[in-house]
Amino acid sequence: MTDLKEKLEAVIKNLVPDGQPKNLYDPIRYILSLGGKRLRPILVLLGYNLAKDGYESVLRPAVSVELFHNFTLMHDDIMDEALLRRGQPTVHKKWNQTVAILSGDTMMVKAYELMLDTPEDRLAEALRKFNKCAVEVCEGQQFDMNFEEYETVTEAQYIEMIRLKTAALLGYSLEYGGILAGMGEPQLRKLNSVGEQAGIGFQLMDDLLDVYADKAKFGKQVGGDIASNKKTYLLLKALELANSSQKKVLKKWLSASDFDISEKVAAIKNIYEELGIFELTQAKIDAYYDGAFSLLDTLEGRKEGKEALKNFLRKLMKREK
Ligand code: IPE
Ligand code: IPE
Ligand code: MG
Ligand code: MG
Ligand code: MG
Repeated sequence: MTDLKEKLEAVIKNLVPDGQPKNLYDPIRYILSLGGKRLRPILVLLGYNLAKDGYESVLRPAVSVELFHNFTLMHDDIMDEALLRRGQPTVHKKWNQTVAILSGDTMMVKAYELMLDTPEDRLAEALRKFNKCAVEVCEGQQFDMNFEEYETVTEAQYIEMIRLKTAALLGYSLEYGGILAGMGEPQLRKLNSVGEQAGIGFQLMDDLLDVYADKAKFGKQVGGDIASNKKTYLLLKALELANSSQKKVLKKWLSASDFDISEKVAAIKNIYEELGIFELTQAKIDAYYDGAFSLLDTLEGRKEGKEALKNFLRKLMKREK
């Protein structure tokens, strides 16, 4: 896997020139240089490897989904008023919001440019499926923002929101690998579902880490979701299971407009503790990853390819950042 990642890093490094205007290109080079797991392009390569050996010819298409992802992060950080990304200041804080909007837009266009390296006979299909996924990400992001204003949401609403904002791109990334390898529709559909199930587990884990991660490893502000009343799985479970006095405390913090962030985070974490929210969320994460593994078992493909994908997902389940 380190091999795959190094190959991807080499492509990413030479992608964006040191161009003018500087404050359009520097933020792109900046966010791309801060690392990240490169999860989505790795999924493209692993999807490809289910049917074909090697990956040199598909590195550029694989990187397209990473550029799209970084575009969504730059805009997401404006929306979430986030201060930290990958352990460094967010682009809208280091530069400003208009810079983050335009640099983000440019990365999205660059993503399409790289996608043009898809073999001609599968290009239209890849673009059509990617576009569907990209709109789903926007739908999910808008639901996520809307839910901040709701008192609570149902579990089904929450799962659908994260399916859209996060899991759709993981599903597409795996499927895109299959498209690049020439797979047919029934297999592609399954492949997409494997990515989607894992993607739901992945976002649940992101929500869990937002509360419980070691800040130095996580690279984002811990407690940010609590501060902004994000309707995470943790919060909606707490609202569902709380007794009347716990509910009162939760409601008080959710409607407070002027508060000390660390005080709010500590109070809500305390209720999570009392209700066993960590364990409940972990069980939910495991259930979605298990779903992905079971589906993967029914997929046709090279034995080595399947093993590599399984190993990667197993590691992803245990991530700390
Ligand atoms: C962060 O994605 C946004 C989510 C969908 C949770 P990653 O956790 O993949 O972030 P990087 O790319 O590794 O930094
Ligand atoms: C965002 O989810 C997912 C995207 C589509 C970017 P989050 O808002 O939870 O992602 P982080 O925690 O900021 O990375
Ligand atoms: Mg967000
Ligand atoms: Mg965010
Ligand atoms: Mg998050």
